[in-house]
Amino acid sequence: MRIIVTGGAGFIGSHIVEGYLACGHEVVIIDSLWAHGGGRRDNIPQRASFVHADIRDESLERVFREFAPDVVSHHAAQHSVAFSSRDPQYDAQVNVLGLLNVLENCVKAGVKKIVFASSGATFGEPAQLPITEATPQHPESPYAITKMVGEHYLRFYKAQHGLEFTALRYGNVYGPRQDPSGEAGVISIFIGRFLAAQGVKIYWDGEQTRDYVYVGDVADANLLALDGGNGGMYVIGTGRKTSVNAIYRALVEVTGFEAPVERLPRRPGDVRDAQIDSSLAGRELGWTPRTSLLEGMKNTVEYFREVASERAAGK
Ligand SMILES: NC(=O)c1ccc[n+]([C@@H]2O[C@H](COP(=O)([O-])OP(=O)(O)OC[C@H]3O[C@@H](n4cnc5c(N)ncnc54)[C@H](O)[C@@H]3O)[C@@H](O)[C@H]2O)c1
Repeated sequence: MRIIVTGGAGFIGSHIVEGYLACGHEVVIIDSLWAHGGGRRDNIPQRASFVHADIRDESLERVFREFAPDVVSHHAAQHSVAFSSRDPQYDAQVNVLGLLNVLENCVKAGVKKIVFASSGATFGEPAQLPITEATPQHPESPYAITKMVGEHYLRFYKAQHGLEFTALRYGNVYGPRQDPSGEAGVISIFIGRFLAAQGVKIYWDGEQTRDYVYVGDVADANLLALDGGNGGMYVIGTGRKTSVNAIYRALVEVTGFEAPVERLPRRPGDVRDAQIDSSLAGRELGWTPRTSLLEGMKNTVEYFREVASERAAGK
């Protein structure tokens, strides 16, 4: 297949691109390498073509016309909850108007399907766990609002223009290439600190939990969504709740370093627990997460160690 991956220079997008290339698909990445995002030139696999462009830009039309993709994987986004709260207008420009530009170009270029990176954040703090597709969505940040709005646009474009879609609502994704300086992932932030022999901050009592899903497994879901799950919106997680304290202990085990801990009060808006039941994705997409948290963390530590030693060698 011919596939455009927006945000393909980013953390999740670059793993998806690798997965698509490994299966023999042809890939064009569209990414603006936004200064506040996780997009890096180094993340771009050699066999992928790269177009340095903003998803809001008119130039997308030419890229879509010339490449004529069968499928578009839409992963470009303003992805920070904190940033979206500070600047909801910018967030909506990229996550809503940018998406609309992509959808319009899909229609013009006769794209058959779009795979959309949605988010478990659209559920806010659910009354009941685990989260399933039946859980009511109560987005609590501008970011989560734009992701939910995005899902509604997918339905509209399918009804109006016959553009097929699958939306994947990810839990907390972690793995190699996640930006350790970002707000996004406690696992990559902690790994960055552990490997630099620095201390970590643990808010609340550290017993708050999230559903951490390995990026390689997320890339698998995106592969399956090329052909399956038409018209579906799937929650993508492991079903396991993992506390911040448990991540800390696992990293002590993996790295052999006991990082000093600064205990701080709960941050406003911090959710207590998250757990995702992906049975529907299992039945309809054939997806199950394969990577245990310990294995995923080992891979991620390994990656950050390699990056650090390459930097030290001046590569
Ligand atoms: N990381 C997670 O845990 C998580 C969870 C749920 C959903 N998501 C979604 O998955 C997608 C990928 O997230 P990520 O964690 O890999 O973040 P990321 O920042 O690493 O990737 C996003 C990419 O989008 C690019 N981008 C940003 N604005 C752009 C614009 N205007 N035009 C073109 N490119 C632009 C960035 O340069 C970056 O490469 C996003 O849509 C995000 O909302 C991520």
